[in-house]
Amino acid sequence: MKLIEAKDYHEMSMLAAEVILDQIKEKNDSVLGLATGGTVLGTYQQLILDHQQNKTAYQHIKTFNLDEYAGLSRQDENSYHAYMKKHFFDEVNIPFSQTFLPNGEALDMKAECENYDQKMEELGGIDLQLLGIGQNGHIGFNEPGSSFESKTHLVALEQSTREANARYFDTIEDVPTHAVTMGIATIMKSKKVLLLASGLQKSSILYDLFHSDVTSSIPATILRDHPNTIIIADQEALSKLHQDERKMFAK
Ligand code: PGA
Repeated sequence: MKLIEAKDYHEMSMLAAEVILDQIKEKNDSVLGLATGGTVLGTYQQLILDHQQNKTAYQHIKTFNLDEYAGLSRQDENSYHAYMKKHFFDEVNIPFSQTFLPNGEALDMKAECENYDQKMEELGGIDLQLLGIGQNGHIGFNEPGSSFESKTHLVALEQSTREANARYFDTIEDVPTHAVTMGIATIMKSKKVLLLASGLQKSSILYDLFHSDVTSSIPATILRDHPNTIIIADQEALSKLHQDERKMFAK
């Protein structure tokens, strides 16, 4: 895991967009793994700005999102389908048919999950996976205790995750109880991982990410075993790490 320190959220977003744009320049038909949530929003905004200014082309790019709530229709404004359309897909020239998210309304969820993993394989696997991190260490919706062997699957959300996401819904009761997520094994197959973290609310989990052994009770620690992980975090998120440690992890 290589750490890149950013001053603040804006700088984190700019640096993250640069990593993604480098990937697209290197391979214009890259398969990108995408994430939703507050942390990655600024990165999408930077990519959209770049698209407007520099005409970076997305017509050969394919995308797979990490997760989707179970039981929400893709038209629901809180679905990750709607998030991606609004905050990214509608703003760049990516063909809709090349954007994939799990179907949270699938009647046969097992088949849906298997097909999702198979589609990823067919298209050559994910070149770069963008990730946020939950305050409990989740990546995607792989909550503490998730198996490192897991592929795309249906999960029950932890109460803390539902509380963290309640800000987008009218009441906490409206937050779905389940989601479909890429598994940890799915994420670990990506050739490169880019994890972003911003704000004081992520400072404890970032401290744990750098100090804990690899353990399923903190799912993100598995990234220590990934050969090509970049973490871009801002000063608030890194505030529990000493300067010396930050320098050491930056190497
Ligand atoms: P956030 O979510 O970016 O909204 O903090 C990240 C996550 O839960 O993975």
